[in-house]
Amino acid sequence: MSPTLEAIFQRRAVKVFEPVEIPEELREQILNAARHAPSSFNSQPYKFYWVRSATKKVAVAKLCLGQKPAETSSALVVAVADLGSLSATAQGQLDWMRRSSFTEEKIRDYERKAKIGRILFMPGPFGMFAAIKRALFRLLNLRMVIGMPPLSRQELFKWATKSTSLACENLMIAAEALGLNTCPMEGFDGRRLSKFLGLSARYHEIVMVIAIGKKSDANVIEPQWRRPLDATVAVL
Ligand SMILES: Cc1cc2nc3c(=O)[nH]c(=O)nc-3n(C[C@H](O)[C@H](O)[C@H](O)COP(=O)(O)O)c2cc1C
Repeated sequence: MSPTLEAIFQRRAVKVFEPVEIPEELREQILNAARHAPSSFNSQPYKFYWVRSATKKVAVAKLCLGQKPAETSSALVVAVADLGSLSATAQGQLDWMRRSSFTEEKIRDYERKAKIGRILFMPGPFGMFAAIKRALFRLLNLRMVIGMPPLSRQELFKWATKSTSLACENLMIAAEALGLNTCPMEGFDGRRLSKFLGLSARYHEIVMVIAIGKKSDANVIEPQWRRPLDATVAVL
């Protein structure tokens, strides 16, 4: 089997970890794998907080409802959907394109797309712009197949959560491939954890917390159940 498939099939949500130190080099490889995940418009709308200091980890584990994987992990990774990063990301990509050998036409094309993105992805005060844009898109949809972009803040968070989750999966598979184990968790106190990390409700939403470490011998691996393929797939 290919090593990638092996990591995918081996990965399990581990509930008890050994107290091991994760070397900086492994941490970088894991986080690099996370940010290489695909993202909508390549906008990478997320931020990962890698919590490794003992005192901070104790505090975050408590906010993960004192769950065993959180308490026993070597580090906790808080994956945050980050709407506040969008304009800096677009600017970063533009600067990179200018430094690289992109043609003027490609750069202008990206500038134009970034401008449209800025207009679309701005809900405005009290979601006012979102309401106007939604009405406009509904009208356009009567005449052409154009779909509906994420407009309200809630829709934008849903949009950013998709890309954040893909990065989370990359992170977990990379950890597995490097001999570590993980447990994704949505059991946490979002309000308190956001406050602890200094996040703003306007721009940030915690998607999940990933406990990471080396699985302990005390970790009981239950058999893995999945719905049958034909229940989750339709081949058309
Ligand atoms: C979004 C998400 C949230 C989860 N939250 C928790 C959690 O809070 N605590 C926990 O112990 N496991 C959590 N899990 C792990 C699942 O229970 C686990 O992935 C599932 O039972 C399948 O087991 P497997 O990953 O070992 O195949 C979560 C998984 C996902 C994807």
